Amino acid sequence: MNKKLTSSMLCAALAVGTVFGSAMTASAADLPILGAGIYSSTDNFNSYIGKAITGASEGVFEVNVDDGQLDQSTQLNQIDTALAKGAVAIAVSVVDTTSAPTIIQKCQDAGDIPVIFFNKEITDKDVVNSYENLYQVTSTGGDYGAAIEGEIIVNYWNENPEMDKNGDGKLQLINLMGDPGHTASQPRSEHVKSTIEDAGIEIELLEEDTGMWDTTKAKEKMDAWVSKYGDEIECVVCANDAMALGALTSIEAAGFNTEGKESEQYIPVVGIDALPEALEKIESGELIGSVLQDAQTQGKVIVAIANNLYQGKEPLDGLDFEFDTDGSKAVRVPYSAITAENVDEAAATYAE
Ligand code: GAL
Ligand code: CA
Repeated sequence: MNKKLTSSMLCAALAVGTVFGSAMTASAADLPILGAGIYSSTDNFNSYIGKAITGASEGVFEVNVDDGQLDQSTQLNQIDTALAKGAVAIAVSVVDTTSAPTIIQKCQDAGDIPVIFFNKEITDKDVVNSYENLYQVTSTGGDYGAAIEGEIIVNYWNENPEMDKNGDGKLQLINLMGDPGHTASQPRSEHVKSTIEDAGIEIELLEEDTGMWDTTKAKEKMDAWVSKYGDEIECVVCANDAMALGALTSIEAAGFNTEGKESEQYIPVVGIDALPEALEKIESGELIGSVLQDAQTQGKVIVAIANNLYQGKEPLDGLDFEFDTDGSKAVRVPYSAITAENVDEAAATYAE
């Protein structure tokens, strides 16, 4: 009885809240709709782009960043709903890049609505060139930040001779890769290793496997490896920070890295993205570094392109970016190296 009362009171309160909410945001209702979505809210980096889109849309678009829940048909339904509501542009990180033509068709059918693909690059040029109103916002280069990640490791090796724990002149390395179906996965894995080798450091690859971009999966893999190799591991390179954080949890549970670089036993771990939660670990020395993939700027560029198009302006009006030189309408936001010396630079991008 009591419970019932409380919940009906809560319902009433919520109803009032909604009424007030819509009354207070009457002007928001007049804003054009941006149909936005990420492929999964379990992906930390994508969630930050989603937040950046929401932030940049304030006063510009009515937006609700949908969670594709790793399911392409769910995401297609979300796009249908947004278009049916009259969205003036669609911005998505697709669940499956091969579904791009279906999404393009939907936008075309809805009246040549612009589509902005972000994060998961559509690399099929026929698809990219099939629609005049297609834009992409990703990060620079075919190596997806991995050359910078490799340089962080090379610098660390050169500055910290104790990294070569067994003194054999080789780097005993563990490589945690992203989702193998993802455009960036293989290139990151290859470029990080070739950058290390090109600097004259021989690699002995102890293990290489996918952690699917995911903290928990990476931790599970690392649990097995740390108990197998322990202090023989001289470096763990991860294709993103979510996995670096998972690997770190695992090695810390095994007694490594807890006191940062001063730890009695230490395994250098590095990632990509420079997520806020990784920055703390870089500052404390638990991670040696990461590669900033600027989610804030990507979110801003996505919203700015959508808004420019809506206003009938040039897509990059007022932006400090240019499209790819190959003629495709792709904006690439640069990556940069983040170590203990410059964590502030990455933190500043999130503070905006
Ligand atoms: C990468 C990013 C990963 C993950 C992936 C998913 O660019 O570094 O953390 O978000 O995209 O598409
Ligand atoms: Ca060695």
